[in-house]
Amino acid sequence: MLVEAVFLRWGHDFRDYSQASLKRRVLHAQKQMGVASVSALQERMLHDATAFSELLEHLTVPVSEMFRDPHYFRALRTQVVPVLRTYPSLKIWVAGCGAGEEPYSMAILLEEEGLLDRTMLYATDINPAALDKARAGIFSAEQVRLFTSNYQQAGGTRSFSDYYTADYGAVVLDQRLRRNITFADHSLATDSVFAETQFVSCRNVLIYFNRTLQDRALGLFHDSLAHRGFLGLGTKETMEFSAWKPRFEQVARAERIYRKVAQ
Ligand SMILES: C[S@@+](CC[C@H](N)C(=O)[O-])C[C@H]1O[C@@H](n2cnc3c(N)ncnc32)[C@H](O)[C@@H]1O
Repeated sequence: MLVEAVFLRWGHDFRDYSQASLKRRVLHAQKQMGVASVSALQERMLHDATAFSELLEHLTVPVSEMFRDPHYFRALRTQVVPVLRTYPSLKIWVAGCGAGEEPYSMAILLEEEGLLDRTMLYATDINPAALDKARAGIFSAEQVRLFTSNYQQAGGTRSFSDYYTADYGAVVLDQRLRRNITFADHSLATDSVFAETQFVSCRNVLIYFNRTLQDRALGLFHDSLAHRGFLGLGTKETMEFSAWKPRFEQVARAERIYRKVAQ
């Protein structure tokens, strides 16, 4: 009833999210927000936009890191970039971009490969607070050690410190990395395709969806991808049980990188 009410009142559709983890997150939200029951939470968010924003934060899990799973980014460099390099211009979609860790990692990789200036990078999410953070490009200094180590393991060719300035316990990413990134609100549950792309990266988002919604999202990626475009998923995500499986071939198995088959 809570997710039905969220959909009717706010248009955010969690009805096809995986039940077990959604339930855990709702109960966690209830506790954190100090309401007595799930029905009280429902009542509150119906009338209170701030309460709904808080609930959205709890339901969307914007947990991420730069160059998360470094071997994924290493595989992009070796197996995807050589093909992307053959195009005069590129459109890349990072779906479920969290607070910007993944699109900024992608921007650094493209910059080092000399491709950023010919790329339009769309970074989308349903969490407005995460998108605001992403636009600011500010991360906590505590995360930098992990980001640096990931960057090195991902095959970074410079020093990670070239890309940020430290500022009172925070690091501010070089604004030049943002020059070709567009951050925008887009839901894989309710919105449609908005651009033709050569590469879609959607990592650690499908794990929160049930099979129906996973198929919807994979359908959007398929329709967005140009002829022989690439798709990257999270290491715990697979195309294995999807109706879209025959439309893609594997490029890097462990890294979950796929390529659209010719039609
Ligand atoms: C765990 S984070 C993944 C961030 C990043 N892609 C990564 O791999 O580190 C999941 C993100 O998916 C977003 N998300 C959840 N449901 C979504 C939907 N229906 N459409 C688009 N993004 C969604 C969340 O807001 C969150 O930022």
